[in-house]
Amino acid sequence: MAKAKIKHVCQECGHEELKWCGRCPGCGSWNSMVEELTRENRGRSDRFTEEVPVPITEVSDGSEQRMFTGISELDRVLGGGIVPGSLILVGGDPGIGKSTLALQVAASVAETYGQSLYITGEESASQTKMRASRLGRLTKDLFVVTETSVSHIRDLAERFQPRFIVIDSIQTVFTEDIPSSPGSVAQVRECTGHLMQMAKTRNIPVMIVGHVTKDGFLAGPRVLEHMVDAVLYFEGERHHAFRVLRAVKNRFGSTNEIGVFEMGDHGLLEVVNPSQVFLAERPTGVSGSVVAAGLEGTRPVLVEIQALVSPSSFGNPRRMASGIDYNRLNLILAVLEKRVGIHFGTQDAYVNAAGGVRLDEPAVDLGMAVALASSLRDIPVDSHTMVFGEVGLTGEVRGISQALKRINEGIKLGFQTFIIPMANLNQCRDFTEAEIIGVKEVREAFDRALGVNV
Ligand code: TYD
Ligand code: MG
Repeated sequence: MAKAKIKHVCQECGHEELKWCGRCPGCGSWNSMVEELTRENRGRSDRFTEEVPVPITEVSDGSEQRMFTGISELDRVLGGGIVPGSLILVGGDPGIGKSTLALQVAASVAETYGQSLYITGEESASQTKMRASRLGRLTKDLFVVTETSVSHIRDLAERFQPRFIVIDSIQTVFTEDIPSSPGSVAQVRECTGHLMQMAKTRNIPVMIVGHVTKDGFLAGPRVLEHMVDAVLYFEGERHHAFRVLRAVKNRFGSTNEIGVFEMGDHGLLEVVNPSQVFLAERPTGVSGSVVAAGLEGTRPVLVEIQALVSPSSFGNPRRMASGIDYNRLNLILAVLEKRVGIHFGTQDAYVNAAGGVRLDEPAVDLGMAVALASSLRDIPVDSHTMVFGEVGLTGEVRGISQALKRINEGIKLGFQTFIIPMANLNQCRDFTEAEIIGVKEVREAFDRALGVNV
């Protein structure tokens, strides 16, 4: 019989102690000791396995059994539906809409495939019912239970055999084997292990909700990321209606995909054409606004980049980036300063990707640079012009991937002029309905976009 034992292991050096201590006696780092559960296996393990190796060509890949949630934005992020027996973690800040999404998925699965089970440890069953009726998803195959003990959850899965399980949230689930409180690293890890086993042995897909912030341990440990099959982060400004679901890990699909949703009175609505929405409120004839094209997974997403450059009243000019990498902003400012000779030293610079979206791609560099110059010189960019390209440290404009896709999306939305890297120009000879301008340097892009020598 396996005997459970608690120990404390340093996450930096692996040193083990029986009691918790603030500072690791092994390497001296602070707050690195984390409770872990070990099982000493006293008996000899079976020497013979019953597993039979199979030729890889004959292994079933499960793709034929994927379940479609009916929410196409989510299905795409998952790589084409839910794989049976997979464990999906949906992380995000509290209040972003994880429970709403999970409930919508559970209801959809119940409607198409039969019984699904929503296990909640955060809200009561009646609160969940209220939410479901608000979403208009009261369906008799959606079952709700308030349960937080992981062994009871396994028991429920066994007796009930649902097609899909939601656990809301992993921070409330606990196992009796560990004395620490629910939500601690050891509890979360151990419980996820149990849920993983449950999902695999019963072949039931399980969606785990976790209050996990993108950059760290804040509200819950990221330790379970490596255990689960897919990690989806739900992002967006809390006071903004748009939510972006991003796959950061996916064993069954690409990790670049995003799904865009809008939080409304009746829950999350899919946004089928994000570009249109992100550009909806764009002002025209105003300086500092440029439309750039980012690529999210397989989809081009057009976003308005806004820049505001104004004289600084203090010695240290302020820089702020929202939706765009802060360091990237600093880098572009340095390139403009040194290579183009535009001085921002006495100017505050604020950059914002409108609509609450986040752009990580270098292809938005050139758009950001043009927006900054446009704001500084107070010259608006024509509202039917789109700009994209990567900016290098010598002020050169570098080619990017999938230029055609981005231009096609722009043409669909009525853009007529495209300022793109010279390296991509050759691929774009066939467009007759739009003017495509290739540029080699940032300075050239300014000339073409702003019509003056900046
Ligand atoms: P919730 O799913 O509870 O967030 P999480 O589980 O991530 O903590 O939803 C959070 C917010 O969404 C809440 O402030 C209310 C809002 N909301 C709507 O605007 N419309 C709706 O139909 C629902 C259900 C929630
Ligand atoms: Mg919730």
